[in-house]
Amino acid sequence: MSYALLRPLLFRIEAEKSHDVAMKTLQLAADNRLAKNALQRLYADRLPAKPVRLMGLPLKHCLGLAAGLDKQGVAGNALAALGFAWIEYGTVTPQPQTGNPKPRLFRLAKHQAIINRMGFNSIGLDAFLDNIKRTDNNVVKGLNIGKNAATPIEQAQDDYVLGMQAVYPVADYICVNISSPNTQNLRELQNDASLNALLQRLSETRKALQDQHGFDRPLVLKVAPDLASHEIDHIAKGLLKYGMDGLAATNTTLARDGVSGHRHAEQAGGLSGVPLAEQATDCIQQFYQRLQGEVAIIGSGGIDSLAQAQAKLQAGADALQLYTGFIYKGPRLIREIVKGL
Ligand SMILES: Cc1cc2nc3c(=O)[nH]c(=O)nc-3n(C[C@H](O)[C@H](O)[C@H](O)COP(=O)(O)O)c2cc1C
Repeated sequence: MSYALLRPLLFRIEAEKSHDVAMKTLQLAADNRLAKNALQRLYADRLPAKPVRLMGLPLKHCLGLAAGLDKQGVAGNALAALGFAWIEYGTVTPQPQTGNPKPRLFRLAKHQAIINRMGFNSIGLDAFLDNIKRTDNNVVKGLNIGKNAATPIEQAQDDYVLGMQAVYPVADYICVNISSPNTQNLRELQNDASLNALLQRLSETRKALQDQHGFDRPLVLKVAPDLASHEIDHIAKGLLKYGMDGLAATNTTLARDGVSGHRHAEQAGGLSGVPLAEQATDCIQQFYQRLQGEVAIIGSGGIDSLAQAQAKLQAGADALQLYTGFIYKGPRLIREIVKGL
């Protein structure tokens, strides 16, 4: 069944239930060779090759799946067969946690947007890595790490170190998420002193892991779009100083521009999708001006069309990620963008 037919059914169900149904279906497809091969022939194999390199990693094309859809690492084989050239799994927290109380996911279909306050519902590192080790597709995998809600913010670094140590041997790159608006005080880690201390600790941990394993892994920092220009300055300097390989820009926004009046507009959480697009592109551009290609930029935020993908690349992104656009448009969005680029 095509996504155009499936979508109205999924959108009739409450948002998180529909998400669970979709993920369960993808998981079944991921674990079934026949289904996976059928999807592969229908979607991934029909995409033209547009190879790019991201932080030294070879990608079939520049379009990947953003973190948060496959938080448990269960559906990678099916998502790769749908055409994503790379997949970011997670966010995973060191210990399992249930996240915020439901409801915590809201569709604003009129605006092609989502508000979520999931709060890192995670099965924890051990179970997550068991799942990741079972995936056997050949697309690049990023593993996105976070902190547990119960860990005091002063000890957040310890959670990121635990995450890095655990995922290092299996990740193609590691993404450090300090920009979810749904874990209390998390975004404070983007601020001056906290950020430098965190980046220093990450870089020390990386050196130790490099010595231990004998190979390096690219390290990415994921930031919010709600940053003032002096904050962007400071973060960019930190990325350069501590030798980070990539910046993921952006996570969801606390702003509600463009959605006011919608019955869900005042729900707490991060807004994603079309209303975020321009703000995210502007953020990418500001980072690019400061980083000048020294640090790779992964662009996300409201990509729902070829034009929006091109805008992000023109602003300085090296590769792109989808989340909300994929929920609204399905795999045809991947085809539209990859063919058009
Ligand atoms: C329901 C939902 C859950 C998300 N969970 C995560 C997450 O766990 N970790 C993360 O780094 N980003 C998470 N994100 C943010 C996305 O990865 C992406 O950065 C953001 O939604 C902007 O892209 P989009 O407009 O294409 O959705 C989530 C987004 C949504 C909509």
